[in-house]
Amino acid sequence: MSVTVLILAFLPLRASDDRLVPGKPLVPGATIVSDGGDFALGFFAPSSSGPANLHLGIWYNGVPELTVVWVANRETPVTNSTTPKLSLTNTSDLVLSDGNGSDHIVVWTTRVKAASSSSSPTAVLMNTGNLVVRSPNGTTLWQSFDHPTDTLLPGMKMALKHGTRDGERLVSWKGAGNPSPGNFSYGTDMDTFPQVFLWEGTRPVYRGPPWTGYRVKSDYQYQTSSTSSIIIYLAVVNDGNQSYTTFTVSDGAWLTRCVVTYTGELQIQSWNASSSAWAVLGKWPPYPCVSYGYCGPNGYCDETARPLPTCKCLDGFVPASTRDWTGGRFSEGCRRKEPLRGCTAGAGAGFVSLPGMKPADGFVLVANRTLEGCAAECDRNCSCVAYAYANLSSATSRGDMTRCLVWAGELVDTGKLGASSPASDTLYLRLARLDVAAGKKTKHNAVRIALTAIGSSVVIIMCIFLAWLKFSGKNRNQGKHKKAPFDSSSDLEFPFVRFEEIAQATQNFSETCMIGQGGFGKVYKGTLGGQQVAVKRLSRDSQQGTIEFTNEVILIAKLQHRNLVRLLGCCGEGDEKLLIYEYLPNKSLDATLFGISRNTLQYHHTTQ
Ligand SMILES: *[C@@H]1O[C@H](CO)[C@@H](O)[C@H](O)[C@H]1NC(C)=O
Ligand SMILES: *[C@@H]1O[C@H](CO)[C@@H](O)[C@H](O)[C@H]1NC(C)=O
Ligand SMILES: *[C@@H]1O[C@H](CO)[C@@H](O)[C@H](O)[C@H]1NC(C)=O
Ligand SMILES: *[C@@H]1O[C@H](CO)[C@@H](O)[C@H](O)[C@H]1NC(C)=O
Ligand SMILES: *[C@@H]1O[C@H](CO)[C@@H](O)[C@H](O)[C@H]1NC(C)=O
Ligand SMILES: *[C@@H]1O[C@H](CO)[C@@H](O)[C@H](O)[C@H]1NC(C)=O
Ligand SMILES: *[C@@H]1O[C@H](CO)[C@@H](O)[C@H](O)[C@H]1NC(C)=O
Ligand SMILES: *[C@@H]1O[C@H](CO)[C@@H](O)[C@H](O)[C@H]1NC(C)=O
Ligand SMILES: *[C@@H]1O[C@H](CO)[C@@H](O)[C@H](O)[C@H]1NC(C)=O
Ligand SMILES: *[C@@H]1O[C@H](CO)[C@@H](O)[C@H](O)[C@H]1NC(C)=O
Repeated sequence: MSVTVLILAFLPLRASDDRLVPGKPLVPGATIVSDGGDFALGFFAPSSSGPANLHLGIWYNGVPELTVVWVANRETPVTNSTTPKLSLTNTSDLVLSDGNGSDHIVVWTTRVKAASSSSSPTAVLMNTGNLVVRSPNGTTLWQSFDHPTDTLLPGMKMALKHGTRDGERLVSWKGAGNPSPGNFSYGTDMDTFPQVFLWEGTRPVYRGPPWTGYRVKSDYQYQTSSTSSIIIYLAVVNDGNQSYTTFTVSDGAWLTRCVVTYTGELQIQSWNASSSAWAVLGKWPPYPCVSYGYCGPNGYCDETARPLPTCKCLDGFVPASTRDWTGGRFSEGCRRKEPLRGCTAGAGAGFVSLPGMKPADGFVLVANRTLEGCAAECDRNCSCVAYAYANLSSATSRGDMTRCLVWAGELVDTGKLGASSPASDTLYLRLARLDVAAGKKTKHNAVRIALTAIGSSVVIIMCIFLAWLKFSGKNRNQGKHKKAPFDSSSDLEFPFVRFEEIAQATQNFSETCMIGQGGFGKVYKGTLGGQQVAVKRLSRDSQQGTIEFTNEVILIAKLQHRNLVRLLGCCGEGDEKLLIYEYLPNKSLDATLFGISRNTLQYHHTTQ
């Protein structure tokens, strides 16, 4: 009896407390708390400058230290004395207004103008920290996750490019108590070729390597105690029109966020309940050496150096000033041991190959070249000093699957990541005399490089920002003569596989290969890279396809470590969306797939 009473008393409260409806505005002092209790929406006074200035924001409800993850009116605070309120109009617009009567001003709005209908829209604060405005028919009209401020939360999508619109950026606060947009931002530069940047104003502070055509998922495990850890998963999604990356964390992990601090760092923070403080699990730049241009022109930051990454000169170069260099002043960089004498250089001139590098910034992208074409492009242009080449995962917007980068002049912000890093490139560097560097090259010890820990630039991708642009794809190493796509030694990799390869593996999706059919797709059996796989092909006209696809990729990625069904790869080219699983004997595959994703997969065997 008492239980019933409790529930009856509780339900109406819960039903309304996580949402805003027309006619019931939110005012200072009140909050909307997500169902689940993780996040709160309301007015907050961020600074010690007094409660006069209020911002509308979302913060962690259970974290004693006010930690705001989203702010509506960053630059235009409202004051508590003028009756500010957040209302949802019956045309589905969220409006933050200040003042009353004739003084009434709109401070912030979502600018949604849906047709007014007899039933009401709602604005719901989800337990992910996402504020979602839904039309009466359930369509999402606006969500705060599409308008990031300085924080990225698990499940949030960071758009790399939306049609013609630029990718999104995280922008820091101005100061500890000032949510106005600050000096630092983080996002992807799409100008020449996708690269990830942390900027101070327009000055780069940190740069990730140019996209190598592959980077779909990475696991990063942070040991938080001897018995528990936080695993962070990255997925990159491309549905043809929009491309974004998103991250999730393992079940039961601490509250985790990725934030650009007002001090100019990108940090991954997790709430440590036992110490009641945010633990910084990762930060960029992690050490000065990888800061943009730190090692000067023609110098590079060797991230594989132990105990600490250090500046070095590229092969064939020496410090411009030995005294500065040994004194730890690297800004002058390095100069050539032997100057280039134009294209008609004497014997011995040519290109030295440096594997495992993060190529310099300031390149020019040459379209539609093979590796040989790229080499020729650089070779015949006397001002070209270096080139780097990658096969992309799939076509760019121009239908080009190649990435030929060439450099003229000085090489700035080069790095060495180690050849085992999927973000690394082979840099081909023009030298007047190859023999000077050649002897050194043969000493490269592949094993040593492979064993050294992966550099920070790789870690950074977990936090997003891995440029994806108009590609979907596969590992650039998936040329037929390269290693098998599902090489088990590369557990960290989660390749996009090209559509043709899947078509081939399933005999062009023949009926004989089909082992199941369901709500939004068919399941085929095939052989890829010598391994038996089950391929799920989502039907083209499935309205829910993209969302389901994303959910499933993330879901399976999360479950990967539990050794259930292993998601081996995926493919999203044009309308095609395919998921590739480890093939298990019928019964267990059936059980496993049903077991983990009953809602997203309707699949049963057909008997023939
Ligand atoms: C604003 O004023 C209301 C009523 O005076 C008060 O309850 C509330 O705490 C104030 N809000 C803030 C954030 O200071
Ligand atoms: C409207 O705001 C003014 C000050 O801006 C205040 O004097 C007045 O009492 C307010 N009226 C109502 C109805 O809140
Ligand atoms: C919506 O709101 C406007 C103004 O607040 C009002 O005039 C209109 O009747 C409302 N429409 C519905 C369907 O409630
Ligand atoms: C749902 O409502 C929105 C606007 O309120 C409208 O644009 C959309 O077409 C509707 N969708 C369906 C399936 O009725
Ligand atoms: C931001 O930039 C301005 C102008 O360059 C400078 O005065 C200010 O100190 C910077 N703030 C921080 C936190 O670095
Ligand atoms: C992509 O954009 C086109 C044209 O704007 C649109 O018709 C199509 O529905 C979009 N596809 C997806 C998956 O959003
Ligand atoms: C969390 O807090 C506990 C208690 O202060 C501390 O021992 C532990 O090292 C912290 N863990 C992390 C990852 O910061
Ligand atoms: C790329 O070059 C080849 C041969 O040079 C040509 O046939 C093809 O049309 C080009 N593709 C694009 C997208 O420019
Ligand atoms: C040579 O390369 C430079 C720099 O990339 C470029 O500006 C120039 O146009 C190229 N010259 C020729 C003939 O391609
Ligand atoms: C790029 O792909 C082509 C053909 O698919 C292959 O011949 C070539 O070796 C690949 N190059 C690199 C650098 O992977």
